[in-house]
Order: sequence, then structure tokens, then C-alpha cells
Amino acid sequence: MKLTYWSHSCFLLETGPHRLVIDPFLTGNPKAPLKADAVKCDFVLVSHGHNDHVGDAVAIARCNNATIIANYEIAMFCGQQGANVHPLHIGGSHEFPFGRVKLTIAHHGSGYQTDTGFLYMGNPTGILITAEGKTVYHAGDTGLFLDMQLIGRLNRIDVALLPIGGNFTMDVDDAVEAVAMLKPRTVIPMHYDTFDVIHADPAEFARKAAGVSVKPLPIGASFEF
Ligand code: NI
Ligand code: MN
Repeated sequence: MKLTYWSHSCFLLETGPHRLVIDPFLTGNPKAPLKADAVKCDFVLVSHGHNDHVGDAVAIARCNNATIIANYEIAMFCGQQGANVHPLHIGGSHEFPFGRVKLTIAHHGSGYQTDTGFLYMGNPTGILITAEGKTVYHAGDTGLFLDMQLIGRLNRIDVALLPIGGNFTMDVDDAVEAVAMLKPRTVIPMHYDTFDVIHADPAEFARKAAGVSVKPLPIGASFEF
């Protein structure tokens, strides 16, 4: 399996012949390494309804004939705009051609901002993806929560993608606590330095999360496991 970091909380996950894009915030993202119309994928996963996570999901899904996997409310919103969708919800999972996806809780918001207000996008989620016998946990946007112990006990997490930028999510110190509960083999930090308000130092995170393999990915770089 191969993960490529496309900045913010956006990753490409390649497994077998499949290409999954998670939280495709590219248009309007000052750190995005590619344009939405350059993305090739067969699935798009969205953790919650905020604009910096839904991003280009509908446009990417439509021009790739890809399927959007997200909570029920986001899936219906995207389906109304002509995308193929598969709705899930927290605690539920489904076997897809590439492997299994399960949604977890995340403590955050999920409203989608339009010119006239916010659309209801259900509860925010984290995403567990299991394929090729390996498990990736994308925490979405979240504060620290004790149920991470349960997620860590029920899943042997090979790679955890954790926000460290603070302000809207866990900061470095809370992400260190998350690592202790999740017990992943490798951690890749995300959701930092896209904007000034979420500045964080991934080297500080790596130092404080002693004993765990922390692999901050430069934007555009990949990690194979
Ligand atoms: Ni958010
Ligand atoms: Mn966010």
C-alpha cells in the first residue's frame, strides 16, 4: 500500500489497482500540490462536511466516475449533485472492491458553508480503511477522545493519520496522547501549516511521541508499507 500526502488532510491511498482519495481539499488550498482535474481515482472518502474536507469531492467523483464514501448526510448532498455515493455512518462498515471501510466517531463539527449559511452534514467521522491485511486510520478533524483506546484495542493500526495543528483539532501534545491510545505502528501528522492559525512543528511531534515511528511527509511525498 502507498500513501501520498496532498497537504492538509488530503491523502491518496493506492492499494492493488485501486486509488482512494481522502478529504480532497485542493481548490482554494494554498498548499495543494496538484489541481483537482489532475486527480485519478476510483473512490473518494470524506471525513466530515467542512469545506476544507469535502473540497473537490463532487467534481473529482464525477469526472472519474468514482464513488464517494462518507456519512449519510454528506453522501446524499454529493449524490444530489450527480456523484456516485455509498453512505455509511458511525460504527458501520462495508466491504468495497478494495477492502473494508468503517466510520468512527470524531469530536468536531460538520456543517458545509454556503453563501447563505451552513448545511447540515451529519456528525463528523474518522475513517478506518482495511485492505491487503493492513489498516489505516484517518482521524478526520477531532479533539482528543478516550474512545481512541477502543479503536486501538479493536484494530491493529498500521498507519494513523492524525491532526496536530491545534485551534480546530488536537495539537501536538494531544496527538501524542492519541498515539498512546491508538498504538499505531506508524503515525503521519496532518492538518497543520495549511494556514497560519494551524501552525505546528512535526519534528516536535516526532520527538514527543517517543517510541513510535512518526513520519511527517513533505507535501507530494509518499510512504509505502
Ligand atoms: Ni473540520
Ligand atoms: Mn479541517
